This record gives sequence, C-alpha cells and structure tokens, in this order.
Amino acid sequence: MQPIKILIINGPNLNLLGVREKNVYGSLTLEEINNKVKNFQYGYEVSIDFFQSNNEGEIITTIGESMYKYSGIIINPAAYSHYSIAILDAIRSVNIPTVEVHLSNIYKREEYRRKSVTAEGCIGVITGFGYFGYIMSVNAIINYIIEGSSF
Ligand code: DQA
Repeated sequence: MQPIKILIINGPNLNLLGVREKNVYGSLTLEEINNKVKNFQYGYEVSIDFFQSNNEGEIITTIGESMYKYSGIIINPAAYSHYSIAILDAIRSVNIPTVEVHLSNIYKREEYRRKSVTAEGCIGVITGFGYFGYIMSVNAIINYIIEGSSF
C-alpha cells in the first residue's frame, strides 16, 4: 500500500506557538508539535507535509493546490475558523476529507470562538487536546480512508 499523504495546514499566529498565550495554547513551538506529529507511530505508512501561513489567500491557494496530491487535509484555520467563508469554500471545492483541529477547546472560550464556519466543510472537528489533537486527526483520516466514510 502506498503511504497515506496528508497535508497539515496551520493558520494565523500559530507560528507564534511557544510564546503566544502559553496558558491557552501550551509551551510547544509549532516545529516541536510538527515533529511529534511526524514521529508518532500510526501503524500505517503516512507521509505528512506541513504548511503555515498568516495569510488567508495563501491558505486558500494551498488547499486548491492539494487536489490530487493528498488523501487528507488537517487544518487549524485559527481565527479564520470563525468567519472565513472563503476557506470553507476552498475546503468544499477540493473534496478531500478534511479534519479541523483546535489546540484549545473553542466551546470553553469566548462566545465568538464557539462557532466555526470552516468546520461545515470538514468530516469532523477535534478541539481542546493541545498538540495531541493533530495526532488524533491523522488517526481519524487514516480510519476514514481505510474503513470508509459510513458509520
Ligand atoms: C485556535 C482557536 C482560535 O479561536 C484562535 O483564533 C486561534 C487558535 C486553537 O487552535 O485553539 O488562533 O484555532
């Protein structure tokens, strides 16, 4: 079997992890998180690419370009989650199973963070488990691809 190719996209200000609001997002840098996610033993051969941008347009272009290249996308759209219809449309356009992840539990925070518009294009959302949410998301995509989408 070919390795399952997954793209992990992180949105604005996630390049500042490790410095930014550590009480909310933890003390790991994005690079440290990516290394943990890459080195985790999933039980299947996976190949994971990482992309981070503070720019909505770049995120949209990257999602568009992932068509035919990746079997799954994991995205933390950060603040864009709460209002970017354009990112939602990009996720829907490529038709690649996508999992949305948030480090913090968005339902335990300010009212304006409790709604994610981008999640409407995703197969599911993992929120509140810190860096481990990315590992859970990889497992969710592997399971979705291997077992199929019906449950
Ligand atoms: C976040 C939650 C968002 O509300 C916030 O704007 C972020 C990070 C999270 O991972 O918990 O930047 O997506």
